[in-house]
Amino acid sequence: MLGLDRLREDIDAIAERDPASRSRLEIVLCYPGLHAVLFHRLANAAWRARLRLVGRLVSHVGRVLTGIEIHPGATLGRRVFIDHGMGCVIGETAEIGDDVTLYHGVTLGGVSLAREKRHPTLEKGVIVGSGAQVLGPVTVGENARIGANAVVLKDVPAGVTMVGIPAKQVLPRQHGEPATAFHAYGTPRPDIPDPAAKALDALSAEVAALRARLEAVENVGEETGAAPAEDRRETRPAERRAG
Ligand SMILES: CC(C)(COP(=O)(O)OP(=O)(O)OC[C@H]1O[C@@H](n2cnc3c(N)ncnc32)[C@H](O)[C@@H]1OP(=O)(O)O)[C@@H](O)C(=O)NCCC(=O)NCCS
Repeated sequence: MLGLDRLREDIDAIAERDPASRSRLEIVLCYPGLHAVLFHRLANAAWRARLRLVGRLVSHVGRVLTGIEIHPGATLGRRVFIDHGMGCVIGETAEIGDDVTLYHGVTLGGVSLAREKRHPTLEKGVIVGSGAQVLGPVTVGENARIGANAVVLKDVPAGVTMVGIPAKQVLPRQHGEPATAFHAYGTPRPDIPDPAAKALDALSAEVAALRARLEAVENVGEETGAAPAEDRRETRPAERRAG
């Protein structure tokens, strides 16, 4: 694919994913994320041609101009958009799939000094919120979302949302929404319920039902003059063990 076609699809991807963008000219002139990706293409070509120092130099110039550090050995897919970008660091063995979005302050970093695959792999359509750190040779599955400032240390399944330190899953993408739907800033429709809240609701409904049954049993006991409810509750575990 010609360089110009690639550039056009990069610009279109930014126009689609950044509600603040006003025109293609503005994107070409004012988006450091676009400039960083273009510098990386050059640096990566030099790196693959074994011109390692040239690759590092081009990457360094890109970093000075954009505030985004992408190691020339990193692999970037198509239509990768680094929004704002300042403070992003992408390590040597990181692999970024097509249509991934990163915000500023994201680190795709290593946790080992071994010269092997030591940086994350982000599959197609992943969104990583500002300040999030994804560390080690973990894989973030397709269309997963990493919340702002999360620290991801383990593999992330496709389509889920992870937040916190260490990152935990909060919200699988569901409810008939296409997995490829892009939400600016990673925020989906407001009517999607939180599964943890749903589980809590189910538990409190069950507790309420059990309490009602217990009260009914106690009332029957009082009317018939049977042993007080407390006594019966105490004997039950022993009876169960005996049975
Ligand atoms: C993680 C994220 C994608 C979730 O968005 P969402 O699906 O709308 O989820 P909600 O806002 O309903 O939050 C779900 C739960 O996760 C919590 N949560 C959301 N984002 C969080 C974060 N970054 N860190 C910790 N907890 C977070 C919420 O408090 C909520 O918890 P609760 O159920 O106990 O109240 C979004 O909050 C996010 O961080 N996006 C990145 C945005 C970004 O970096 N923007 C930069 C623009 S310049």
